[in-house]
Amino acid sequence: MAGAVIQALVTIGVNTIINTRASVDHECLIGDHVHIAPGTTISGGVKIGDNVLIGAGATIIQGIHIGASSIVGAGAAVTKDVREGVIVMGIPARVVKYS
Ligand SMILES: CC(C)(COP(=O)(O)OP(=O)(O)OC[C@H]1O[C@@H](n2cnc3c(N)ncnc32)[C@H](O)[C@@H]1OP(=O)(O)O)[C@@H](O)C(=O)NCCC(=O)NCCS
Repeated sequence: MAGAVIQALVTIGVNTIINTRASVDHECLIGDHVHIAPGTTISGGVKIGDNVLIGAGATIIQGIHIGASSIVGAGAAVTKDVREGVIVMGIPARVVKYS
């Protein structure tokens, strides 16, 4: 979407949206059916599984892996890997719910 920045060697799956002003840095792997919400910052080398929502304004530091079907809350700062099927939020992001 408008203002999104996608850097070199990024792979984006099918039915995935990179929303307004989001940035996805070098060598990220983004899965299928993912929503990268407005204003998010995805640092280099991040891997995001299928069916993930990265909430508005969240920041993911470099090299992190976000497991499939997880949700990163708006405004979160993710500094550690996130397993599948959980909701994380806050700074630094912590698990608040398991699905
Ligand atoms: C993280 C999220 C999924 C949690 O949703 P939820 O499970 O329905 O949580 P609730 O709304 O019931 O809130 C539960 C508590 O968490 C807090 N909370 C909710 N989202 C939060 C967030 N992103 N960061 C910090 N705290 C949050 C609420 O204030 C509430 O606190 P309280 O119990 O002290 O009142 C959701 O709030 C969120 O951030 N979604 C992303 C939305 C988004 O960016 N959409 C993009 C649209 S283009």
